[in-house]
Amino acid sequence: MSCLRPYRHDDHDLLAARESPFDDFGPQAVNPDRSCRLDDDGGLVVAFDSDGPARGEVSWHWVQWGPTGGSRCPMIGIYLRPEARGRGLGVRAQRQLTDMFFRHTTTNRVEAHTDVENLAEQRALERVGFQREGLVRGAHWRAGAYRDGYLYAVLRSEWTVEQFEDPRADED
Ligand SMILES: CC(C)(COP(=O)(O)OP(=O)(O)OC[C@H]1O[C@@H](n2cnc3c(N)ncnc32)[C@H](O)[C@@H]1OP(=O)(O)O)[C@@H](O)C(=O)NCCC(=O)NCCS
Repeated sequence: MSCLRPYRHDDHDLLAARESPFDDFGPQAVNPDRSCRLDDDGGLVVAFDSDGPARGEVSWHWVQWGPTGGSRCPMIGIYLRPEARGRGLGVRAQRQLTDMFFRHTTTNRVEAHTDVENLAEQRALERVGFQREGLVRGAHWRAGAYRDGYLYAVLRSEWTVEQFEDPRADED
C-alpha cells in the first residue's frame, strides 16, 4: 500500500536529511505548514499507510509555457528516504499525484524534470507513463555545478491510469 497525506510536525526529522546525490540542492527546510492544495505550489508526504511515518515526499510547482493561465501545468518532484527506495513506492506515489492533477485540476499536462544521471527516476517516470521530451542543458544547480536534465511529461489525452496499473502495487 501507499498513500499521500498532508505534512505533520513529526515528519520534519525524517525528511530534513536529504540522503541522495540527486537531492543535493543545499539546505532545505521541510515546512509542516506547506500547502497541499493542488492549485498552489505544494507537497504531500509519502507513507505506506495514512498513519505511518514519512517515507518521503512529493512536491510540485506550477510552470507556464504560454502567456495565459490556460497553459499552466504542474512540475512534480519526489524524494524517498533510502530504506523506502527500490520497492515500487516511487512509481506508485508519482502515479497517485499525477492522477490527482488530472482528476482535480484542468491541466492538460503534468511535467517532471530529472538529472541525466538519475536512472532510477527516469525509469520510475517512464513506468508511470511519462515520455521523455528532451534535454534541458544546465538546468539545475546541484552539488556545486549546473547539471543537464531531461524534461518528461504526460498529457491528459494519454492518461489512462488503469493502463499503468503496477502489478507490484499490493506487495507491501
Ligand atoms: C528516484 C526515486 C523516486 C525512485 O523511486 P523508487 O521507489 O526507488 O523506484 P521504484 O522502486 O519505483 O523503481 C522504479 C524503476 O526504477 C528502477 N530503478 C530503481 N533504482 C534504480 C537505479 N539505481 N538505476 C537504474 N534503475 C533503477 C527499478 O528497477 C524500476 O524499474 P523496473 O520497474 O523496470 O524494474 C527514489 O529512488 C528516490 O527518491 N531517490 C532519491 C531522490 C531522487 O532521486 N529524487 C528524484 C529527483 S528528480
